[in-house]
Amino acid sequence: MKTQYYTASSLDGFLATEDDSLDWLFPLGSLESSSYPGFIAEVGALAMGSATYEWMLRHAQEAMAETGAAWPYTQPCWVFSSRELPPMPGAQDAEIHFVQGDVRPVHAAMRAAAGDKNLWVVGGGDLAGQFHDAGLLDEIIVQIGSATLGQGKPLFPRRVLSPRLQLEAVRHGRAALSRAKELAPCLATCWQGCLPQK
Ligand SMILES: NC(=O)c1ccc[n+]([C@@H]2O[C@H](COP(=O)([O-])OP(=O)(O)OC[C@H]3O[C@@H](n4cnc5c(N)ncnc54)[C@H](OP(=O)(O)O)[C@@H]3O)[C@@H](O)[C@H]2O)c1
Repeated sequence: MKTQYYTASSLDGFLATEDDSLDWLFPLGSLESSSYPGFIAEVGALAMGSATYEWMLRHAQEAMAETGAAWPYTQPCWVFSSRELPPMPGAQDAEIHFVQGDVRPVHAAMRAAAGDKNLWVVGGGDLAGQFHDAGLLDEIIVQIGSATLGQGKPLFPRRVLSPRLQLEAVRHGRAALSRAKELAPCLATCWQGCLPQK
């Protein structure tokens, strides 16, 4: 079982624009043509911050129209917020826990729920940093999109110098051919293993 921060980033290190738009990301490729299907099959529990959850709330109707489900996850999910957030519409059967504060007891609950499977820290970057600060993050898996944003929500707002991150693998991907038979922009995927302070 690993705790993994799996995400997509712009070339200059942003997850989303300042106003939480992901419109820059979707033209770069489809989830199906990325490493996501293989990744999510091994995930047993998820954690995310409130901005990520609220993005999903805002796009719940679109998701429902496109996939038939407002909430895409079958695994239990822990959402961090100091506020009371609305429930996800149309996801009454989903196991969504609202939590706040120290990530360590939440990580323990995620482990207990996930069995042998991995734990996914969905984002944002500071929440992933909180897991890292607690010595609980094993891997950072970043899909680097061929776009720059200039500013926005940071990938991983931490200074990690020692122990150094170990680069485990880099895969150069190419998104699927579009209907127009033109190549979509490239996505590079790299796996970096955090050296955990366990
Ligand atoms: N590119 C990608 O693949 C990707 C992946 C993930 C997310 N995203 C997007 O990137 C953006 C991330 O936003 P973000 O950087 O603001 O991060 P976020 O983690 O989604 O949300 C941050 C907020 O979560 C709450 N929070 C975090 N840790 C907490 C804790 N320990 N206890 C209580 N509350 C806590 C706080 O808000 P409150 O207390 O006020 O609720 C905090 O301001 C979103 O737009 C998301 O949709 C993109």
